[in-house]
Amino acid sequence: MKRLERAKQAAMGKAIGALQKAVQLAPDRWMPGATPDPLIRRQHGHIGRAVPRIDGPLKVRGEARFAAEFPLEGMLYAALAYSSIARGRIATLDTAEAEAAPGVRLVMTHRNAPRMAPMPLFMSSEKACGGSDLPVMQDDRIHWNGEPVALVLADSQEAADHAVGLIRVAYDAAPAATGFAEAIAKGTEPAQFMGQPLAQSNGDVAAALAKAPFRVDRRYTSPRHNHNAIELHAVTAAWDGDELRLHDASQMVAHTAWSMARVFGIAERQVHVTSPFVGGGFGGKGLWQHQVLAAAAAKLSGRPVRLMLSREGVYRIVGGRTLTQQRVAIGAQADGRFDAILHTGTVAMTPHNALPEPFVLATRSAYAAGVTQLGVDVVRLDMVANTFMRAPGEAVGSFALESAIDELAVELGIDPIELRLRNEPDKDPTSGAPFSSREIERAYRDGAARFGWDQRGAPGSRREGEWRIGMGCATATYPYYRMPGGAARITLTQSGHATIEVAAHDMGMGTATVQTQVAADRLGLPMAQVAFRYGDNRLPGTVMAGGSQQTAAIGASVMAAHRELVTKLLKLAGNDSPLAGLDVDAVVSVDGGLASIADPGRHESYGSILERARRSELVVEATPPLPLEFLHWSMHSHGAMFCEVRVSDVTGEVRVDRFLGSFDCGRILNPLTAASQFRGGIIMGLGLALMEETQFDERNGRIMNPSLAEYHVPVHLDVPEIDVMWTDIPDPHTPMGARGVGEIGITGVGAAVANAVYNATGKRVRDLPITLDKLL
Ligand code: MOS
Repeated sequence: MKRLERAKQAAMGKAIGALQKAVQLAPDRWMPGATPDPLIRRQHGHIGRAVPRIDGPLKVRGEARFAAEFPLEGMLYAALAYSSIARGRIATLDTAEAEAAPGVRLVMTHRNAPRMAPMPLFMSSEKACGGSDLPVMQDDRIHWNGEPVALVLADSQEAADHAVGLIRVAYDAAPAATGFAEAIAKGTEPAQFMGQPLAQSNGDVAAALAKAPFRVDRRYTSPRHNHNAIELHAVTAAWDGDELRLHDASQMVAHTAWSMARVFGIAERQVHVTSPFVGGGFGGKGLWQHQVLAAAAAKLSGRPVRLMLSREGVYRIVGGRTLTQQRVAIGAQADGRFDAILHTGTVAMTPHNALPEPFVLATRSAYAAGVTQLGVDVVRLDMVANTFMRAPGEAVGSFALESAIDELAVELGIDPIELRLRNEPDKDPTSGAPFSSREIERAYRDGAARFGWDQRGAPGSRREGEWRIGMGCATATYPYYRMPGGAARITLTQSGHATIEVAAHDMGMGTATVQTQVAADRLGLPMAQVAFRYGDNRLPGTVMAGGSQQTAAIGASVMAAHRELVTKLLKLAGNDSPLAGLDVDAVVSVDGGLASIADPGRHESYGSILERARRSELVVEATPPLPLEFLHWSMHSHGAMFCEVRVSDVTGEVRVDRFLGSFDCGRILNPLTAASQFRGGIIMGLGLALMEETQFDERNGRIMNPSLAEYHVPVHLDVPEIDVMWTDIPDPHTPMGARGVGEIGITGVGAAVANAVYNATGKRVRDLPITLDKLL
């Protein structure tokens, strides 16, 4: 089995290598990004404008319906009972009292649940990246503390919640692996991420470190983090014969439909998933057991079912970011140049899960160094499966790397910004690929000037009464991705209205607004004449809102569909048109029609073309070329994070006074929604730095703080005015010149805060979160 896996990986590695070579030899043949998007250079009407969210009024008026807000005829309400052991079997399960409680329609357990196939893992037949591939409520076995063991269906949520407390369960507990150190002592295995090994090395790092005249070699740790989107995970499920209808809170409607079809043994077209509004996802709004359980309960009861997890429920069955133990060692010359970087460590995941926190990802492309060694090892614990959580890898990896660089800057007596810039690579240091665009120096210089970095003093030198004040900085970075997102459809009417349709998602980040802006510019129409339809698996495409790549993925699909539209319009225009004889590359969409690039006077409106062709509308659908641009270029968003903190001598309390994020993310399509993404990421980063910590009881694998009362996230009083700025330099190799802005905001923040705390107090905290007990 192991051999087969390895052989498969080797074959995949070889195939990717060959593709990489082909792409490097003839980039134009392979990549849409090789021929720059005309929108990058054209004068724009809508792109770059601070357009407020088009769904803002709907949300403010409470008219935007979220997944738990669809009242269906005859609907029942569900509540879940969760196991209280980490591993073993259900010995007895007494549901009689719950079944007899007022308003209760039925109780579903492994004894009466419909037979279902295990959850398949989206994107591949391999093990899940996020989530797990366990069967759902099919037998008496328990795999983690918090696994659902029973579901109550009742006429009201209150009745269901009451009855769930009347269920009596006894267990035969089996020995469970719940201690991290204990598991490490028994042995670790090298981790894989998306089917690829995370370990890499290009020389003898130990020797280079030993020889280096200056060196740091430190351990950093970060705790588990749980998802806490404002909107609780929720689903409304209904069957119509063999057709399953789901109102879900989802960042992957197409993948959810695909998976649910397999669980219930029906065709994908028999599943209809919509998710028009989502109250935050951050990687956590994928497919978990609750959607399967709701659909199963709807099948069993013959009634529509609404299942909204309680806040505790989200902690019990939706996984988050796992804990990390990291080692970073850097060897340097007196002038600051790095000879070697080592970044290794250990994380935990479950036997039925394939998402180790890949904390070395950002280190691959960060700094020039003679030799580099990276690696992530993993142990298996009996706990809820890990999943993606905003910048999986980079969020906590950058804490370790960027803290270590600050520590090295102290050793060397070099300003930490200067130290970073002296190690700026001119090409990707581990892959050797050229950068598509890298303006990190500009982000640092502009940010430092705006923040007043020159006011920073020696550690412990600034004080106001009981408060010691300090500044810190760190690099933020997140890769550009564009997953194969499938097709987009454009419907253009004679009246000059266009509808763009993609099975995409808006979790609050502004997808619908920004895509309307981009489509309006691409089509040469006012925004009021463009509608963007999304959040429905029956629309074209399979794009996922993840990896900060949805904007680019949709952009490429719409670009392909637009090209198809222009081709068809030119055909319809024929010889009587001022456009006669022009081909698709010789025209642009402008002023509600097409015009010759060489001679803009040659213009015909869409209405006129369609009218002469006696067509009321034109519908096109197209799929973009494979996303191969990042095989040729090393593509990343960058940022420089600046933080000022004050630390109390009396209590050890840390207050963040000021924060600035200076970003280099290509073209910014909408300054309002992008700034909101950056700020939201930074706020989440402040939580990571100062408060977020899942308390996991290592004796029994129970999460002890499954509530916002005991799992602390930043509240209004914890968040200062956050300043953001950006280079706005378009990336010539991405659709629209834009790179992702969704996840980068959280990266670097942990280190910027820790480095500021050091500058304030002279105390280095290497263990997140930086709570007051660590500073006294
Ligand atoms: Mo993001 S963690 O890829 O939703």
